[in-house]
Amino acid sequence: MDVKTIMVVGAGQMGSGIAQVCAVAGYQVFLYDISEAQLDKGIANIEKGLARQVEKGKMTAVDKDAALARLARSTDLHAAAEADLVIEAVVENMDVKTKLFAELDALARPETILASNTSSLPITEIAAATKRPEKVIGMHFMNPVPVMKLVEIIRGLATADDVYETIEAVARKLGKVPVEVNDFPGFISNRVLMPMINEAIYALYEGVATKEAIDEVMKLGMNHPMGPLTLADFIGLDTCLYIMETLHEGFGDDKYRPCPLLRKYVKAGWLGRKTGRGFYTYE
Ligand code: CAA
Repeated sequence: MDVKTIMVVGAGQMGSGIAQVCAVAGYQVFLYDISEAQLDKGIANIEKGLARQVEKGKMTAVDKDAALARLARSTDLHAAAEADLVIEAVVENMDVKTKLFAELDALARPETILASNTSSLPITEIAAATKRPEKVIGMHFMNPVPVMKLVEIIRGLATADDVYETIEAVARKLGKVPVEVNDFPGFISNRVLMPMINEAIYALYEGVATKEAIDEVMKLGMNHPMGPLTLADFIGLDTCLYIMETLHEGFGDDKYRPCPLLRKYVKAGWLGRKTGRGFYTYE
């Protein structure tokens, strides 16, 4: 299938990043959100990101304007009827996602592919909410989307081969490197990353070292660009907790139990960078 028009559902940090790379790659893009304020914020982020690339000489002002001209905003889900591919990037909540996919299934053309940017929820279960499970697939981008090369592509139980191939081609056109993964909790990225972050939080909880020391060990010793606690703040502690709960429930194995300190921070509303406070404080 030749994808020309992409609808991105959800204008948060991930959705706006995805819309940005799609528009830059030459796709017509609809960025949808139920909230006008969130759309304003998402579009402003995209404009800021592209302006930064122009300042650095990595993009011309003409290309920036052309990318922005390919980007339309919408608060009407009916825009799905125009799309060849819909990429969902809303909150990590199965009820919200299944309801949304059922609506998208009713509005989109039969050949339209419905992709989810979920970081850990089962694609097979999301697909089962539609009448086109063979056209549902996981397309998991990393944060910050414009910078990170990986797109983890997750095959649900029913995902068709030609749908996988189309999505792999789209990821390459976005300048990303697609990696194929089967549908199990946390896929590969978060099955490996989140237990490491959770273990770092346990180390802090048990007083093994300070937060700065834990981050320094992983940065300098393992060459990670950010220490695990800084990265947890960057991802969002609510997201980290949600992913750990998905792993814990999905495998039924206590090795994935979320650290009580992580739960406590989330209960306090200390969600990381986005709320100005997590393991660290932010201006
Ligand atoms: N949006 C767009 N571009 C950004 C950006 C953002 N939010 N943040 C940084 N950049 C760009 C900068 O403009 C800069 O670009 P140039 O090289 O073209 O100049 C480049 O990224 C490097 O930025 P900085 O020099 O400011 O900072 P840095 O070298 O410290 O890099 C970082 C910042 C790329 C975020 C780096 O710290 C990093 O790679 N951190 C780890 C990120 C990571 O692990 N992400 C995955 C999280 S897990 C996930 O997303 C999946 C999930 O399901 C939870």
